[in-house]
Amino acid sequence: MRRVGIALLGCGTVGRGFVELVERERPRIAARHDVDLRIDRILIRDNDKERAGVDRRLLTRSAIAAIDDECDVVVELIGGVHSAGAFVRRAIANGRNVVTANKALLAMNGAELFNAAAANDVSIGFEASVCGAIPIVRVLKSAFAGDEIESIEGVVNGTCNFILSCMERGSAFAEALSCAQERGFAEADATLDVDGVDAAQKMRILASLAFDAPVVRESVVGIRGVTPHEIERARIGGNSIRLVARAERIAGGVAIDVAPRELDANHLFANVRDENNTVVVRGRASGEIVLSGKGAGALPTASAVLADVIEIAKSPSRRTAYAI
Ligand code: HSE
Repeated sequence: MRRVGIALLGCGTVGRGFVELVERERPRIAARHDVDLRIDRILIRDNDKERAGVDRRLLTRSAIAAIDDECDVVVELIGGVHSAGAFVRRAIANGRNVVTANKALLAMNGAELFNAAAANDVSIGFEASVCGAIPIVRVLKSAFAGDEIESIEGVVNGTCNFILSCMERGSAFAEALSCAQERGFAEADATLDVDGVDAAQKMRILASLAFDAPVVRESVVGIRGVTPHEIERARIGGNSIRLVARAERIAGGVAIDVAPRELDANHLFANVRDENNTVVVRGRASGEIVLSGKGAGALPTASAVLADVIEIAKSPSRRTAYAI
C-alpha cells in the first residue's frame, strides 16, 4: 500500500470537514484504492482557535514548513487570491500536486497555474471549486468528451439560494445571511456570494472546461436588490426567485450571465432549495443533463476535495487532473 502524505493549508469550515472525512474514510479508501492517506501538516493562522477533532501536533503557522515538507499533495483550503496563490505557486514549483477549492484563484489565475503545473509535471485538482459535492468538473471533462457543449445553466451559489429560500419562509435578508454564515456556506467575504461574484467565478471555471473560447461578455447581478416584497409577490403568484447563472457560446466566444430570475413553480430551478445547487449542461448530441446536490458546506465540499486527492494518489503518472 502506498502512503500518501497531505499538507493541508487552512483549517476553516471545509478544512475541518476534510480532516473529519479523511479520518472517517481512511480504512475504506485504503481497502478500496490501496492508498494510505495521511495528513502530515495543517497550516493555520490562529493558534488559539478551538478545533475539535484536529490533532494539535499537526498544526503549524509556518507556510514554508507546511509546503516545503515532504508530501505528495498540498490541499489548499485557505481561499482568497493572494496568500493562497503564493502558496499554490510554491507547492507547484516544489513539484507537489495541488488540490484546491479556490474558485477565485482559478477564475483569476487558472491559466498561469495550470501552465506552471504542466511545466512541473504535477496536477491541480479543483472539483471542489464549483458546486460543492456535485462532480460537475469530471462530468464536463470526461462524460462530455465526445460532445459539443452548447450551454451550462444553473443555481450555483448555495449561500444565495439558502438566503432566498429563507426569505420565502419569511426571514429577513440579514438574518438569513448570518444563518448561511453560521452553517459555513458563505465565503469569508460574503459580498462575493450575495453580489453574484462567486457564481460568476464558478461559471468562468465551467466555461473554460466546456468551451475552447474566451469569455467575451459578462453580466453579473447578485441578490442584494431582491426585496422581501418581490419574493412575497412571486410566492403568491406561485413563483420563486432564484439566482441563475448561465454560460453559453456566442459569436466570438462565451457569454456569462448571472442574475436573479423569477421562475414558474414548475421550473427545475424553482425547486432547488437551501444550499442545494442544480446545473443543466446542454450538449449538441446528448441534450440536457442535470446534476443536483449540495453546493456548499463542510462535508459535501470536503468530499469533492477528497475525491481529487484519491485520484491523484492512485495515479501512477502525476498529471491526472484536468487543466482549465
Ligand atoms: N460560498 C459558496 C456558496 C461556497 O455559497 O456556494 C461553495 O462554493
